Amino acid sequence: MYLVSPNFSDLMAPNVEFKTFPDGDSYVRMNDISKCQGEDVVLFHRLYPKQNTAIFNTIQMLHTLKRVGARTTLVAPYLPYSRQDKTFLMGESLSAQVLCKLFNDFGTVRLVTLDCHFLKKEGESEYANLKIQNISANKLLVEHARKLVGLEQLEVISPDQGANYLVSEFGGKSMSKSRGEYEHAMGPQGEEAYRTVQKVEREFDVATKNVLIIDDMISTGGTMIKAVENLRKGGAKKVICAATHGFFLNGSLDKLRKISDKVFTTNSIPNEAAEVDMMPLLKAAAPNPASSSVQP
Ligand code: R5P
Repeated sequence: MYLVSPNFSDLMAPNVEFKTFPDGDSYVRMNDISKCQGEDVVLFHRLYPKQNTAIFNTIQMLHTLKRVGARTTLVAPYLPYSRQDKTFLMGESLSAQVLCKLFNDFGTVRLVTLDCHFLKKEGESEYANLKIQNISANKLLVEHARKLVGLEQLEVISPDQGANYLVSEFGGKSMSKSRGEYEHAMGPQGEEAYRTVQKVEREFDVATKNVLIIDDMISTGGTMIKAVENLRKGGAKKVICAATHGFFLNGSLDKLRKISDKVFTTNSIPNEAAEVDMMPLLKAAAPNPASSSVQP
């Protein structure tokens, strides 16, 4: 059966209850737990925003399901901590591994997610013992952008080499990006762990062309803004920015809208520029086990 977290309520009717105790502790109740005993279940739950609470809610739900012998496929369209798959300084945590190990330990049979940062390819993989099915939203993003330019030609590119897998099937080229060292900067949540995007460069011509830039995510917008500035300098005609996951921190949506012709994302994370529905991708990858026909 499908279990749906309250943070998916813009897309499906929730059947799990979340509350918060006065001290901030999370309360979770799965009202349909009796129907999950020994069953295959698909749990739809977003892990962003408020990722640390959302992750703990996941553990609470996985543990509850494990106690009744359910086999859980977790459908989480954006996987937080996926950019912490490498370390740069001694003693840093490999948080992407920590999270996947945790999900596996608490009984996730399979994680279905979209454009997972560290996988950089579609299909089935295993990471920190967790089976992951990574789906790309790239075709939906390109299809949406093509509607915006009509019959005109459209170059599909990525702002860095890591996102090349999103554009290669459209004959797309990739720019190259460089970041600086960690800087000591204070943000709204304390000292920030952030390496500024220094340059996004290109070795191909974009003059008079319509260009669609696709990335797996737009977070602070640092990458996309530098990429758009470079394309504008190179004489691009229309510049369209797209990403699977849109956070748009630090007012970056407004900044991007000022310098580009269009900005859009999927609804993996609810945001003002979410124009592409990724639900068909998720439902195709994790069909409802309750509706699968059993042959006599
Ligand atoms: C990193 O390589 C990712 O693919 C994105 O390019 C990056 O995380 C986007 O972050 P921001 O918007 O902060 O530049």
